[in-house]
Amino acid sequence: MSFNVKEIETKPFDGQKPGTSGLRKRVKVFQQTHYTENFIQSIFDSIKAEGSTIVIGGDGRYFSPETVQTILKIGSANGVEKFIVGKDSILSTPAASNIIRKYKATGGILLTASHNPGGPDADFGIKYNVSNGGPAPENITDQIYEKTKTIKSYKVIEDAPVDLSKVGDFTYGPSKVQIIDSVEDYVILLEEIFDFPLIKSFLDAHADDFPILFDGLHGVTGPYARALLIERFGLPETAIQNCVPSPNFGGGHPDPNLTYAHTLVETIEEKNIPFGAASDGDGDRNMVYGKQAFVTPSDSVAIIAHWADTIPYFKKGGVKGLARSMPTSKAIDLVAEKKGLECFEVPTGWKFFGNLMDAGRLSICGEESFGTGSDHIREKDGIWAVIAWLNIIAAVNKDSPNKLIGINDLLKEFYSIYGRSFFSRYDYEEVSSEGANALVDNINEALKTGSLKDTVHTSASTGTQFTVSDIYNFEYTDPIDHSVSKNQGQVITFSDGSRVVFRLSGTGSQGATVRMYVERYVGPEAGPEKLMEPAAVGLKSLIEVALDISKLKEYLGVDEPTVIT
Ligand code: G6P
Ligand code: ZN
Repeated sequence: MSFNVKEIETKPFDGQKPGTSGLRKRVKVFQQTHYTENFIQSIFDSIKAEGSTIVIGGDGRYFSPETVQTILKIGSANGVEKFIVGKDSILSTPAASNIIRKYKATGGILLTASHNPGGPDADFGIKYNVSNGGPAPENITDQIYEKTKTIKSYKVIEDAPVDLSKVGDFTYGPSKVQIIDSVEDYVILLEEIFDFPLIKSFLDAHADDFPILFDGLHGVTGPYARALLIERFGLPETAIQNCVPSPNFGGGHPDPNLTYAHTLVETIEEKNIPFGAASDGDGDRNMVYGKQAFVTPSDSVAIIAHWADTIPYFKKGGVKGLARSMPTSKAIDLVAEKKGLECFEVPTGWKFFGNLMDAGRLSICGEESFGTGSDHIREKDGIWAVIAWLNIIAAVNKDSPNKLIGINDLLKEFYSIYGRSFFSRYDYEEVSSEGANALVDNINEALKTGSLKDTVHTSASTGTQFTVSDIYNFEYTDPIDHSVSKNQGQVITFSDGSRVVFRLSGTGSQGATVRMYVERYVGPEAGPEKLMEPAAVGLKSLIEVALDISKLKEYLGVDEPTVIT
């Protein structure tokens, strides 16, 4: 049967440049006539579409089902041989990465704006992943962007829409369409990585004194958490909440941090739950949080690396190397040093880990932005991190029959070995771009003239002094393909080893978001009391000094950050 390929005339739209994680805009922007179509055609123009296999999935947010049909229309007209689509247009970002790898697809189109709110007045996003399962590298996203600037027409085949709610084999025009169960392959993957029997027996034995709670924040991970925690580990329904994906995330902001995951925090505190966790809209972020116990993402990845041997995947394959993004605390560096492993510092963005993993030099990595993962796929993986923690806790408790070891015990022990990198991030969301740029320019000026070097700054409230030792703009040369990424954040270091980083967010959809990251290391000799202080106490002086040096409040015209993590 032959199908009629139609060319539809269009004109370029401004600003279709993919950011840190694909193109993210308000839904209303994507709904403009030809807007979404232009971007999708530009993706197919930038890859070898003819004969390709393309995975389609996403977090199920508002405008996803329509966009899946648009991709089928344009993709089939561009020669895609087969589409593998998550049922109801749902595949978490890590699950999609797994599907691309497992079924050797050419790439995948993920419909997600991650942790940004969803719904008709909120955000939508389109992200392209390549055949290793990871986000497209900059040379491809740049190519897509170039195409969007000159596009004159896009191709479509008009066929009846595919019913996305039925698993099975279908066709769209000349292309095959396979609708798959969103969860199955992912559960198989995790079962190969972790010690499920050990986790189950620990959870069974501690049903009363170690109840756990996972909060899906109405995002995509709900069905994955149900399949694992309820169906595999046999936990009661009370172990999960907000686990039915909703197109607008129940009206919430599906970001697992102390501010936005308040439903988790409140239930944990109210019911005295020792272990809780949440994941974001598309399932790649995570937060581990128990009663009076918060694990910073920087500590989380370091602790997973420290205990890697308890996880069958690493016990079998070994740990090849460790890595973190630049603003992430240096806790993991200390683990690497102790274990004699390579440790990499890459720019913010998971895509920077991909080459190192493909080259067999990296096994475990993480970012302060609530991302933790490993080389089992090429995306960070929220549920993986939660199960990693459960695996570690189960293993540690196997060796401690008389005392139940929980989150705080693991933190305390870790700090007693390595010391603690106190870490916090202040976010100033949706401030004016002019103010944000002026802030950056001012630091760049100091960098150029050296005017801040060796200056001494005193915290008004504590009298603690900090001397600036260096200022630089972080730049990265990829050790594998030697590509260079410049201007990845401004770093101010102090003579006591503390540091402050300023960076503009690459994931916002409106205005500018400034992030300030502060880190101060305290050695193990300080003792448990100092080491277990709240981060806000341990960092008070440094935060004051950072705000003072950068004149942040003046430039941004705001007094307080919108989020503190
Ligand atoms: C996404 C990426 C992460 C990255 C984060 C940074 O979540 O997947 O790898 O760390 O964005 O976001 P930002 O808003 O700070 O640019
Ligand atoms: Zn995400």
